[in-house]
Amino acid sequence: PFYKAMFGLSELEEKIRKHFGLKQVVIVSGDSDESPATGRELGRAGCSVLRKDMKANDVIAVTGGSTLAQVANQLTSQTPLRSNLFVPARGGLGESLDYQANTIASTMAKRTGAQYRMLHVPDHLGEEAYNSLMQEPNVREIVEVIREARIVVHGIGDAMVMARRRRVDAAVVEAMKAEGALAESFGYYFDRHGEVVHKMLTAGLRLEDIMETEVVIAIAGGRSKGEAIAAVMRFGHDDVLVTDEAAALEIAAII
Ligand code: F6P
Repeated sequence: PFYKAMFGLSELEEKIRKHFGLKQVVIVSGDSDESPATGRELGRAGCSVLRKDMKANDVIAVTGGSTLAQVANQLTSQTPLRSNLFVPARGGLGESLDYQANTIASTMAKRTGAQYRMLHVPDHLGEEAYNSLMQEPNVREIVEVIREARIVVHGIGDAMVMARRRRVDAAVVEAMKAEGALAESFGYYFDRHGEVVHKMLTAGLRLEDIMETEVVIAIAGGRSKGEAIAAVMRFGHDDVLVTDEAAALEIAAII
């Protein structure tokens, strides 16, 4: 039964990889909605993918969330990665401290002997606030570094779950629902076709930066996220997907 299960997962990996034109898909067994052990495995698998893709002098931008926290808390390196720099992909997105991108970037750096920089601004900004913040040399400089990251590692969430978690305005939530918002990633909301239905000015990675990033790694699992993951894969700018069996089965059922 063990070999059978292994064989089944690699077929599923290949099916999903081909369908979305990804470079690599990694599936860990189980359902992280149900099992904390699966959640940890997902994090560990994320660590191996990231370590394999990292090269000297890379800047790595990371998003927040509990899944990325699982990656951060298990990331290790045998030799200190002194030339690598971890940065948050976005500003504060209304996440609790443990799940903020700043915290995740600094944890990853500390655990691997790499460097880190923080971005201490709220993510969603009005035009006036954005323009004046971007005139601050300190802010502008770190934002430029973030936008040039060679690797982006990000989580994916269900749109409505994330809107609630961030206490998004009821009127905005209704408008997004009407547009078919299904998934959330890097602060953007996507419909089932992978079209962006909600976007705001941001001090951090923008869609156009993600489109040009050399290596984009998505890490997300749990049956409840299957559709959201498929939506973000349809957006089409990921290179690697690390997920779990339950989410992968949901994805396979709709592609
Ligand atoms: O808020 C950061 C973020 O990466 C979102 O973009 C994503 O939807 C969410 O966290 C995923 O969170 P979790 O891993 O806790 O489900």
